[in-house]
Amino acid sequence: MLLNSVETWMMNNPLRAALQRHFEAPRLLRMGGRLPGGRVLEIGCGRGVGVEIIFEQFAVQSVDAFDLDPAMVALARQRVTDRGSTVRLWVGDASHIPCPDAHYDAVFDFGIIHHIPRWRDCLAEVFRVLRPGGRFYAEEVFARFIEHPVWRRLLEHPSTDPLSGS
Ligand SMILES: C[S@@+](CC[C@H](N)C(=O)[O-])C[C@H]1O[C@@H](n2cnc3c(N)ncnc32)[C@H](O)[C@@H]1O
Repeated sequence: MLLNSVETWMMNNPLRAALQRHFEAPRLLRMGGRLPGGRVLEIGCGRGVGVEIIFEQFAVQSVDAFDLDPAMVALARQRVTDRGSTVRLWVGDASHIPCPDAHYDAVFDFGIIHHIPRWRDCLAEVFRVLRPGGRFYAEEVFARFIEHPVWRRLLEHPSTDPLSGS
């Protein structure tokens, strides 16, 4: 689902980018390692900060990335314009990834699966497009955070089948 105005503001600001670059990505790197020459996919790329980070910190060859929100994809396009044909961006839904089976060395999820009502379909799609032995790098937000009264007031998330983490 699309973000409401509060979360759009939270995502599209320098603090979010700093957290992603200096806290989340280094942890994913420690857990999963670099991917020299890798062909990777980022689901729910937002304004494209994740695409930059994946190139910078994971040493990949190419990044395909998409987001449900055309406005986010437009921002991402501006951000990564100098990367040429090593980046492919589109508007799309992570519940139906328009890519062949076993296509990617890795898939990245920076906090998007908890926004997908049918997140189990999304996970099935992620594993379908990963090659055997491919890696899934995921940073996620679980129900105990989303269901906190403060965040319930400010943010919008799917109300059924929340991502529980257990
Ligand atoms: C919390 S934001 C995270 C954005 C970015 N990954 C980041 O870490 O800054 C969630 C993003 O997922 C996108 N999104 C939500 N549902 C989606 C879906 N079904 N398929 C693809 N993207 C989706 C939203 O438009 C939004 O850009």
